[in-house]
Amino acid sequence: MKKIAVTGGAGFIGSNLVERLLSKGHEVTVVDDLSTGLKSNLDLNKITFHELSLTNRDGLAKALNGVDAIVHLGARGSVPRSLKNPIATHDVNATGTLNVLEAARTNGAQVIFSSSSSVYGRNGQLPKDESMWLSPLTPYAASKLAAEGYVQAYGAAYEVPVTLLRFFNVFGPKQRPDHEYAAVLPKWIWKAMNNEAIDVYGDGSQTRDFTYIRTALDVIEDAINRGVRTEGAVNLAYGNRISLLTTIDLLKSHFPDLKVNFIDIRPGDVKDSQNDPVLLKKLFPDVTPTEFPVALSETVNWLKKFGQSVANGPATID
Ligand SMILES: NC(=O)c1ccc[n+]([C@@H]2O[C@H](COP(=O)([O-])OP(=O)(O)OC[C@H]3O[C@@H](n4cnc5c(N)ncnc54)[C@H](O)[C@@H]3O)[C@@H](O)[C@H]2O)c1
Repeated sequence: MKKIAVTGGAGFIGSNLVERLLSKGHEVTVVDDLSTGLKSNLDLNKITFHELSLTNRDGLAKALNGVDAIVHLGARGSVPRSLKNPIATHDVNATGTLNVLEAARTNGAQVIFSSSSSVYGRNGQLPKDESMWLSPLTPYAASKLAAEGYVQAYGAAYEVPVTLLRFFNVFGPKQRPDHEYAAVLPKWIWKAMNNEAIDVYGDGSQTRDFTYIRTALDVIEDAINRGVRTEGAVNLAYGNRISLLTTIDLLKSHFPDLKVNFIDIRPGDVKDSQNDPVLLKKLFPDVTPTEFPVALSETVNWLKKFGQSVANGPATID
């Protein structure tokens, strides 16, 4: 049993992780400002909850005092949101990460950090690996890269045990389907459930390396259990190249009357995204990813049953 803090624990990945950690008997502390996360995602009787911003360094130091590991998932997500307010994105994602690292340095806690494949930005080479050059195109990506720099520096300079994971497109139960910045899969499923047409930017040939939440949690849990440390980043995606058109075909098996609108491409959207998972498999040899069609079906079934619990939540506070 470990004492584990999850920042962003009321959000999609965080709340799934909290549930997993509790089921394994760990003691869990959550730090979240509820800006996109939902309190209803958490069983408040089973955890210590701090409604707190990552920008509050002193409050954070107190909340994280005495923990063995910090899974740092709290962030101002979304590229469009960062374009609207780059300073806020920097404050939370870059400075907030520095604040987490400071708390970890004092405690000797392991830090598992959630970066993003968006740090590759301008680099269109495929598949991606961790040795490739990075060139952020948005304030969100820049803030994640700044945070990556601090994570690596604290690992090297202060020997904070760090695990630097770069997520690609993670999806699954509890991902909010209906807010302004919702990710594509829950948004589409939700619209399909409500007999609304889904919007595809461009011709739908763009591809994504989707990762199911269970797979991402398996990696995080393994990183905690074995204290896996990384020197640089590790890309967390298994080398899928799934087009949006393929996704639509799979969705049609659940929603035969699905209506699709093809609209203008969104400026700044990446055309293709795919990881080369050599390092990931080397560091986490026991993790077997869930196949995409299975993962998509589970997500559809979850949203049909429990979608109301994450839909119609409060609007994102900007
Ligand atoms: N979901 C993905 O596909 C994906 C891809 C790449 C990177 N990531 C990263 O993974 C992490 C988790 O993502 P998610 O999809 O669960 O997003 P999410 O928005 O559901 O969760 C983020 C959580 O952080 C909280 N938060 C935001 N600002 C905060 C602040 N100032 N102080 C405290 N808490 C704050 C939110 O309320 C929310 O609960 C994020 O760091 C995100 O950037 C996710």
